Amino acid sequence: MAKRNIAITGGAGFIGSHVVRLFVNKYPEYNIINLDKLTYAGNLANLKDIEDKPNYKFVKMDICDFEAFYKLMQEEHINGIIHLAAESHVDRSIKDPFTFARTNVMGTLSLLQAAKLYWESLPEKYEGKRFYHISTDEVYGALAMNHPEGIKPPFTTTASSTEHHLAYGDDFFYEETKYNPHSPYSASKASSDHFVHAYHDTYGMPTIITNCSNNYGPYQFPEKLIPLFINNIRHRKPLPVYGKGENVRDWLFVEDHARAIDVIFHEGKVAETYNIGGFNEWKNIDIIKVVIKTVDRLLDRKEGEDLALITYVPDRLGHDVRYAIDSTKLQKELQWEPSLQFEEGIEKTVRWYLENQEWMDNITSGEYEKYYKEMYEDKDIPN
Ligand code: NAD
Ligand code: DAU
Repeated sequence: MAKRNIAITGGAGFIGSHVVRLFVNKYPEYNIINLDKLTYAGNLANLKDIEDKPNYKFVKMDICDFEAFYKLMQEEHINGIIHLAAESHVDRSIKDPFTFARTNVMGTLSLLQAAKLYWESLPEKYEGKRFYHISTDEVYGALAMNHPEGIKPPFTTTASSTEHHLAYGDDFFYEETKYNPHSPYSASKASSDHFVHAYHDTYGMPTIITNCSNNYGPYQFPEKLIPLFINNIRHRKPLPVYGKGENVRDWLFVEDHARAIDVIFHEGKVAETYNIGGFNEWKNIDIIKVVIKTVDRLLDRKEGEDLALITYVPDRLGHDVRYAIDSTKLQKELQWEPSLQFEEGIEKTVRWYLENQEWMDNITSGEYEKYYKEMYEDKDIPN
C-alpha cells in the first residue's frame, strides 16, 4: 500500500482532535495534516500532547479556499481525506444559516472538486484514494417518541446497564432512512452528503460517508449540552433546559467515534454509508440529572444539591424530538462496538472538565461570554 498522506479537516475541533490524536499516535508511518480555519470552535490547545510529533503538521486553511487546498494536495501528495470541518452547532445555524451553507456545503464541494482534479491528474487516478466524509444522524430528521417512558431491551443492546438506557420508540435511523433534515445545520449537512454521493456516482471518486449520533467527551466546545452544563454547575449558574427536557438524544463517547472512523477509513467499503452509535438513548432531563449528580460528587458537594439550578426555558425552534441510530451494519461488517459503558464515559468526561478548568476558562472568556449572552437572552436566563 502507498504511504498514507492524510488531510484531516477540522482537526482542531472536538471530534477532529480525537481523530488526529488517534491517527498520529497509532500510525507513525503516516503523514497527518490537520487542516483547520480555527474558527471560534477550533482550538490548537486540544492537540498540545501531539503537536511535536514528526508525522503531524498543522495548516491553517479555510476549506472554502479551493486554490489553497488544491496546492496542498499537490505538495503533500494527499491520498486520503477525512473531512470533519463544519459549522456544527444547531442553535447557531438557527441564527445564522448562511455561514452553515458556506462552510458545510460550499466547503465540502470545494474539497471534492480539488480532490477530483488532483487525483484524476495522477497516473493511478483514484486507486488507493479515499474521501471520507463525516456526517450526522440529524440528516435523517426526527423519530417519533411513541414510548415516552421507554422500553426495556432488546431495543437497546450494547451499552446498557441501568434503567436509563431504554429505547423511547420502536424505530431507529437506518442507513436506508430517507433524508429529512429540519434545521439549517442538518439541511447543510444533508446537502454536503448529497454532493459526496454525486462525486462517487458521477466521477467514480472513492467516497465513504458516516452518520453518527451525539458525541460527548473531553475537548467539546461549551456551547453543547454536556460541557455547557458541567461548566455552569461548577459556577452554580442556571442550567437552561429547552422545553420540557423530554427530547431524546443517542450518546456516544467521542473516542469510540474516533475508533469507528479509523476502522471505516481503513476497512469500509467505497460508496457505502455506515451509521455510528452506541444504542444509548437518553431524555435530556435524565442525562442532565446524571451530570449534576456526578459534578456534585466530584466537587464534594451534597449529591443532587445543584438540581435546583435546572431552569426550563423556551424550546429550540424546530427542536427534533428523538434521535436513535442503528449501527448494526458497522458492528456486524467491521466488528466495531463502543468500548465504554455510558456511566464510565460520563464519569471520565466530568472528571476531565473539572481537572482541566484552565482549558475551559481560556475558552469561556471574551467572545464566548458575548455568544452566551446573545444566545440565551431571549430565554430570559441570567448570565
Ligand atoms: P466542532 O465545531 O467542535 O469543530 C469543527 C472544526 O471545524 C473546528 O476546529 C473549526 O475551526 C473547523 N472549521 C469550521 N469551519 C471551517 C472552515 N471553513 N474551514 C476549515 N475549518 C473549519 O465540531 P465537532 O463537534 O467536532 O464535529 C465535527 C464533525 O462531526 C462535523 O462535521 C459535524 O457535523 C460532525 N458530527 C458531530 C457530532 C457531535 O455530536 N459533535 C455528531 C455527529 C457528527
Ligand atoms: O446528533 C448529532 C448532532 O449532535 C451533531 O450533528 C451536532 O453537531 C451536535 O451539536 C449535536 O446536536 P444537538 O443539537 O443534539 O446537540 P446539543 O448539545 O446542542 O443539544 C443536545 C440536546 O440538549 C438537544 O435536545 C437540545 C438540548 N439543549 C441544548 C443546549 C445547548 C438544552 O436543553 N439546553 C441547552 O442549553
